[in-house]
Amino acid sequence: MNRLQGKVALITGAGGGQGAAEAYLFAKEGAKVALTDIQFENVQAVADKINAEFPEQALALKHDVSSEEDWIKVIQAVVSKFGPITVLVNNAGILATKSYKETNIDYWRKGLDINAWSQFVGIKSVVPIMEQAGGGSIVNIGSLASIMNAGGFNAYTASKGAVEAMTRSAAAEFGPSKIRVNSVHPGAIATKMLTDTITTDEGMKAVEAGIPLRRVGEPEDVAKLVLFLASDDSTYITGVEHIIDGGMWFV
Ligand SMILES: NC(=O)c1ccc[n+]([C@@H]2O[C@H](COP(=O)([O-])OP(=O)(O)OC[C@H]3O[C@@H](n4cnc5c(N)ncnc54)[C@H](O)[C@@H]3O)[C@@H](O)[C@H]2O)c1
Repeated sequence: MNRLQGKVALITGAGGGQGAAEAYLFAKEGAKVALTDIQFENVQAVADKINAEFPEQALALKHDVSSEEDWIKVIQAVVSKFGPITVLVNNAGILATKSYKETNIDYWRKGLDINAWSQFVGIKSVVPIMEQAGGGSIVNIGSLASIMNAGGFNAYTASKGAVEAMTRSAAAEFGPSKIRVNSVHPGAIATKMLTDTITTDEGMKAVEAGIPLRRVGEPEDVAKLVLFLASDDSTYITGVEHIIDGGMWFV
């Protein structure tokens, strides 16, 4: 308990899935949490649920992570409600399932804008606040798709590869300011993103058969790792890709 006491966290894409699980766990561990999402009704519902259990700890905001204007407004709102942001979880993302031949330039740019450019703007915007606060932790959500062979997910793998590389360069640049930057690379996690893609029981069984732990991950599995990276339990860890996939990558 209270592993995030005194921290102010901003989690993007927290209207469902992994972001919602992270927001709940963060509040439970004492953080003030700003939850943002392009789907405002969803993120408001998650924040209401958190506030019912942990009063005054959650704030819901509408946020398109591919808009710099939205980032500026969101950050101002969070700082004025809760004070300086000391944890950023760049979680919002979309799956882009087209192959090289099917991918046109607009489709590729959209994948990169939402999954990678957004994280660059988020990092750039919160770093001055974290520097003034004396440090912070940034967790960028990537994917196993940038680490293992993922044919047919062209723009997605490119965007998640950018997340991995940006994480290392940011960790090197901001380490002297006591700002840690890590990436998390989930395998198959039971959220809308996965169930929209794997739509049959047979398909899901085939996915599970390829995972040594023989199950897909739950959003809470990832939330526990993100909590560790956000907390002071990981004060000497930065610039690292953390795979969480039930062993999927090595088989
Ligand atoms: N589920 C998986 O199997 C899996 C695997 C590897 C990586 N990931 C990554 O995990 C992260 C979380 O995904 P999830 O599994 O919870 O899926 P999800 O679809 O449940 O959640 C994604 C959230 O991002 C929000 N979002 C989408 N576009 C946005 C935008 N432009 N601005 C703000 N919010 C936006 C959605 O509204 C949604 O609430 C993503 O970055 C995803 O790429 C997921």
